[in-house]
Amino acid sequence: MDLVSISIYMWSMVALCTIITAMVTTKLARVRRPITLNPKSKRPLPPVVNVIALLEHLPRLCTKGVIPVYKGSVFTVSLFGLKATFLVGPEVSAHFYQGMDSEISQGDLYEFTVPLFGKGVGFDIDNATRTEHLRFFIDAIKTSKLRNHVNSMVQEVEDYFAKWGENGIVDIKHEFEKLLMLISGHCLLGKEVRDNMFDEVFSLFHELDSGVGLGSVIFPYIPIPSHIRCDKAHAKLAKIFSKIVRSRRDSNRPAEQDVLQYLIDSKHRDGNSTTEQEVTGWIISMVFAGKHTSTNSTTWTGACLLTHDKFLTEALDEQKHMIQKHGDHIDYNVLLDMDILHCCIKEALRMHPVAPIIYRKAQKSFVVRTREGDAYDIPEGHNLLSPMIFNNRLPYIYKDPHMYDPDRFAPKREEDKVGGMFSYTSFGGGRHICIGEAYAYMQIKVIWSHLLRNFELKLESPFPKTNWSKILLEPWGKVMVSYKRRRLPTA
Ligand code: HEM
Repeated sequence: MDLVSISIYMWSMVALCTIITAMVTTKLARVRRPITLNPKSKRPLPPVVNVIALLEHLPRLCTKGVIPVYKGSVFTVSLFGLKATFLVGPEVSAHFYQGMDSEISQGDLYEFTVPLFGKGVGFDIDNATRTEHLRFFIDAIKTSKLRNHVNSMVQEVEDYFAKWGENGIVDIKHEFEKLLMLISGHCLLGKEVRDNMFDEVFSLFHELDSGVGLGSVIFPYIPIPSHIRCDKAHAKLAKIFSKIVRSRRDSNRPAEQDVLQYLIDSKHRDGNSTTEQEVTGWIISMVFAGKHTSTNSTTWTGACLLTHDKFLTEALDEQKHMIQKHGDHIDYNVLLDMDILHCCIKEALRMHPVAPIIYRKAQKSFVVRTREGDAYDIPEGHNLLSPMIFNNRLPYIYKDPHMYDPDRFAPKREEDKVGGMFSYTSFGGGRHICIGEAYAYMQIKVIWSHLLRNFELKLESPFPKTNWSKILLEPWGKVMVSYKRRRLPTA
């Protein structure tokens, strides 16, 4: 076993134990708790769950059924001296998501991104500078700019599916990965890449992200072959983008409308221009942040829709209605009008969050109060985890949480809003909420509205299982779908 396999194995075991622990914790709530007080404040510390001891209870729990009874809960999982405190449920998550970076930080978990995005950006710089840089990202894909990107997305989607035959069978996960990169090529990276060197850049991005595994999170810099390939891919991408940035700055051509141009034209607060290294790092990080997240979400949406006739029919009826109302034309406002499709995507992401757990480190101690009224001290230095895989399935927020039911987000129910802030965290929340959420919905809607309008589709493989061995959870293996062209009747 090489080092990566070992670290992946270790990490998977930690993750497995942690998940099992979290699943059974509420069951064991009454037997596990020797409460320790914080000597300074005299308030209780979160109860500690020893994974090894818990495993002893497993057979009994398995035979009795380990259907988790999720409740807002705070507990620390300890394994071989490593401790992580879980904050489950919106009641205990406000400070986790909203706290200042000086009080609760993203820690060094994201250090593995430094070799991917390069020096001088992302997690290679201090919090304050990173926050300033995020402003460029937010401005680059804010609503007014999103409107322009919709046309490019529609064009890419139409061109892509025009190449499909009259009927056939495809792996939609693979198809969406390629298509979403073409969209990124057009909207983010710019026409030099999209028109002249797409295949080269696509395969360099592939090298970059296939070089990162769970092991990279623990040992980001060990010189194993996949990391070396990653470094080489980054160096080549840096060369390509530096050349493009230089050539755009030197030319008198009218400015392009893509995100790359926006980043090139941006100015720092002190009036200095952005550097080639910064622009390269940012554009790589934006593609990276959206690539797998969007591919996985688009695939989960399809898998859920194609296995739930009721919602597939509702989504189809909505498209017929859209065609009657707006004709064939799709723009930003038409996409905003697709409420049913929106709920179908949101529900797929509730059940299959791409990022399963968000991590933070307490830089200052704070207090959380659970739904049951218990208050716990979270001491400085604690590792904290907000598990979306549990938060998104709390039965006191989501009725029948294991059921795919997009109607739960429809106007009269809106279970996430009724549940309060941080009830739905598939895009994170608070201070570091995903800045690409609106962009991601746009591209998934453009793709699925086109597919629903133009193809009869059937999921040929079984409903995909989750691949837990990835940093971002994805559908396991190929997701085969058969298609037949059709024109959606509007009458
Ligand atoms: C369905 C697709 C997507 C999902 C599920 C998703 C999910 C997330 C989540 C959970 C976070 C929070 C991470 C944390 O709190 O530590 C996040 C942050 C972020 N996302 Fe996304 N994302 C998606 C698409 C995108 C796209 C398309 C972009 C850019 C074009 C993007 C850019 C970012 C950035 C820059 C951050 C960091 C924000 C910060 O640290 O303040 N994401 N995303």
